Amino acid sequence: MINLDGLQPFAQGGNRRCFVHPNNSYRCLKVSLEQQSKKAKQSAPWYKKFRSEETFDDNLREQKAYNQRALIKDNPNRWKHLAKWYGMVETSIGPASETELIRDNQNNIATTLETYLFTYGKTDEIKIALDEFELWLRSSLVLTKNIIPHNIVIGYENEKIVLKIIDGLGSKSYLPLTQVSDFFARRYVERRIQLMQSRINWDLTGRKGDWK
Ligand SMILES: Nc1ncnc2c1ncn2[C@@H]1O[C@H](COP(=O)(O)OP(=O)(O)OP(=O)(O)O)[C@@H](O)[C@H]1O
Ligand SMILES: [Mg+2]
Repeated sequence: MINLDGLQPFAQGGNRRCFVHPNNSYRCLKVSLEQQSKKAKQSAPWYKKFRSEETFDDNLREQKAYNQRALIKDNPNRWKHLAKWYGMVETSIGPASETELIRDNQNNIATTLETYLFTYGKTDEIKIALDEFELWLRSSLVLTKNIIPHNIVIGYENEKIVLKIIDGLGSKSYLPLTQVSDFFARRYVERRIQLMQSRINWDLTGRKGDWK
């Protein structure tokens, strides 16, 4: 079991806390806030332990999403724009998903696409990186939920930006056809690309109105 007691997360989203793996600075451990509070409740009396389990845990959703068709296919490019997945592990503060920790060209933890866009805007460099990312989505047909700039980080390969998805894999469960048919997957992915572009433009123009 990995001991995370007393360690500070390097980031926190709406659902999970992210830690640098104490034994490997290139791995990220994500503990869902829900699981963490559950673990803390284990010492609580039974009447306080009783709680609705309806909320679908983000780590479980992700585990399922990493087993999607596009990622179990033998495509050498399938990890190009995706943090690698190493499975679920036990930690002192609850179960964690272990993934590749993306770092930048200075070896710092990568910043998000959102931070990049707010700092530098739509530079030529990021336009090229976005084009490459979109081509990869179309060719790999990796299924994602809506792609939001804070769920993408700025990785590097040979001093060139390579965008990496770190959260938001999977597709809506009511769209099972996307999992079995390239035709439906293509349509679905095309729509995610369109929505990603409109989300970026919405971010860059002061977030007025509905981004969709
Ligand atoms: N593998 C990674 N490499 C580098 N940074 C990461 C990685 N995973 C997460 N992060 C950072 O941690 C933040 C939160 O992680 P993540 O998006 O997985 O949490 P979440 O709670 O599921 O998010 P949300 O609020 O979108 O539901 C990200 O926005 C990113 O800045
Ligand atoms: Mg997120």
